[in-house]
Amino acid sequence: MADTAINDAFVAFERVQKSYDGELLVVKDLNLSMPKGEFLTMLGPSGSGKTTCLMMLAGFETATHGEIKLKGDPINNIPPHKRGIGMVFQNYALFPHMTVAENLSFPLEVRKIGKSEREGKVKRALDMVQMGDFGGRRPAQLSGGQQQRIALARALVFEPELVLMDEPLGALDKQLREHMQFEITNLAHELGITVVYVTHDQTEALTMSDRVAVFDDGRIQQLAPPDELYESPQNSFVAQFIGENNTLGGAVKEVKDGFALVELDGGGLIDCKAVNVEKPGDRTLISIRPERVETNMDRLNTDAHTLDAEVLEFIYMGDVFRTRLRVAGRDDFIIKTRNSADQTRLTPGSKIKIGWQPEDCRALDAV
Ligand SMILES: Nc1ncnc2c1ncn2[C@@H]1O[C@H](COP(=O)(O)OP(=O)(O)O)[C@@H](O)[C@H]1O
Ligand SMILES: [Mg+2]
Repeated sequence: MADTAINDAFVAFERVQKSYDGELLVVKDLNLSMPKGEFLTMLGPSGSGKTTCLMMLAGFETATHGEIKLKGDPINNIPPHKRGIGMVFQNYALFPHMTVAENLSFPLEVRKIGKSEREGKVKRALDMVQMGDFGGRRPAQLSGGQQQRIALARALVFEPELVLMDEPLGALDKQLREHMQFEITNLAHELGITVVYVTHDQTEALTMSDRVAVFDDGRIQQLAPPDELYESPQNSFVAQFIGENNTLGGAVKEVKDGFALVELDGGGLIDCKAVNVEKPGDRTLISIRPERVETNMDRLNTDAHTLDAEVLEFIYMGDVFRTRLRVAGRDDFIIKTRNSADQTRLTPGSKIKIGWQPEDCRALDAV
């Protein structure tokens, strides 16, 4: 997806910085623009600034520098309840003394919507999350998954154009979490709402989102659709944070036509795409996905460089074989092969050759 011009963006962060104590910046330089209807996830380790960004967008925190815009207008002047933003948090935050229906009715009362219209909207929102029969219950009489559905319905009941969700499924078990991931994305697309979703769970981010913003240290490290993040990480942090990844350190010997010949620290020469390297002598960490490593040299070009490897461990996982190798002095090199009829199982102790297509391996920054 092409980056939306800042001016027609539905949500825009422009050079936003945030400090809580006037010294340390927890958000360092955030630039982001989202088109209407996008499902965008902020993904990153704990403390990387995700919740702070969501709170600034919702209006519960103010930016120290820079500007946040909704539909082209700066939001500083608009109080939180007038921003038309629905919110869902991990801990549900339902009112315990109110019934489910009263919980849902509350945001409508705040917005001065009449009784009969309220009843219709509450019913519709409950039906949306398949909780139509639960209007009379109190939150304590519901399971965690049901409470989270109600929290979702409450965020949607006033038909917001923008919904913010902060780790909303963190407290649910795996099966229910996967089911709710599916429900939330479907509902968002059906209703055409724009979503900013926060999680530290990469699988959740990759499966739910149109685009993912990978956060680290108060900055977006990369903002891209899931397949691009996995296949074309722009730096070593993203390569290592998203999916399984093999990393080997080395120095560039030669750069030609966008490809780099790298001399690995543990010995061996290998070809990679020159992503964050420019010239001979540059330090690099190369990144190669386990499923892109070839053990059958017939499938490589005859002039391809290859590496010596020793098989350390063979792990049978049903659909795939995971094999751990010693490569260039490291014992943690993983390859994955599909369990197909003609696939050989590598024996620990055996010496093999490995290689790859240069475009599958990326020479990134040495951090
Ligand atoms: N209200 C606050 N006052 C002071 N520091 C805060 C506050 N909220 C968050 N922080 C700090 O800001 C940094 C980013 O936090 P946060 O945005 O919650 O990260 P994330 O949601 O990615 O885990 C952390 O170092 C955190 O300790
Ligand atoms: Mg957080």
